[in-house]
Amino acid sequence: MPGGRFITLEGIDGAGKSTHLGWLETVLRARGRHAVVTREPGGTALGEALRALLLDGSEGMHAETEALLMFAARREHLDKVILPALDRGDWVLSDRFTDASFAYQGGGRGVATDKLDHLERWVQGGLQPDLTLYFDVPVEIGRRRARAIRPADRFEREEDVFFRRVRDAYRERARRFPERIRVIDASRPLEDIRILLEEIITSICS
Ligand code: TYD
Repeated sequence: MPGGRFITLEGIDGAGKSTHLGWLETVLRARGRHAVVTREPGGTALGEALRALLLDGSEGMHAETEALLMFAARREHLDKVILPALDRGDWVLSDRFTDASFAYQGGGRGVATDKLDHLERWVQGGLQPDLTLYFDVPVEIGRRRARAIRPADRFEREEDVFFRRVRDAYRERARRFPERIRVIDASRPLEDIRILLEEIITSICS
C-alpha cells in the first residue's frame, strides 16, 4: 500500500472544518488507511499547553509573540507527531497548520509575511502538506455558526473586520498555491461537501 499523505484543513472559525475532519477519517478508514488525527496549535503535550496560553489567555500578547508560539508548537508537533506518522506510512489529518499562521498572524494581526516565511523555512525546511482543504465561508456565516457551538476563545472574540482580513489572506494563499490548496465552498449543504470530500480522497488514494 502506498505511503501516507499529509492533509491539512483550514478556514476561519465556524467554517466547519472540525466536522469535516471526522468524515475524512471515516472515508480513509473505509479504504483501509490509518489516519493520525491531530490539530494546531496542539497535538503534543507541550503544544496543548501553548494552545491554552494562546486561546484562553485574556491578557493578550504581541502579534509576533503569538506567531512565534504558533511556530514553536508546530516544531514540536512535526517532531513528535507528524514526521513519525508519515515515516510509518500513516496518513496525517491536521486541523490547521502553517496557512493558519499566514492567515491569522499575517492577515489578521499584520505580522510581516517575510518573517512568517522565515519561520516556515526554519521550522519545516521544505515540508509542505500534500493537500490543504480550505473551507471558505463568508465571515457572517462562520461567525454565526461558531457562536452557536461554544463560548468564544481569544481569537473568536475578535471583530468581524479581523476575520475578513483572515479570510482574504487564506484566499490569497489559495490563489498562490493552487496545486496544494483546494478551495471548498463551505456554505454549501453538509451532504454536498461530504460527497466532494469523498471524491477528493478517492482520487488521492488510488
Ligand atoms: P480552532 O482550530 O478553531 O479550534 P476549535 O475548533 O477547537 O476552536 O482554534 C484554533 C485557533 O487558533 C483559531 O482561532 C485560529 C488560531 N490559530 C492561529 O491564529 N494561528 C495558527 O498558526 C494556528 C494553527 C491557529
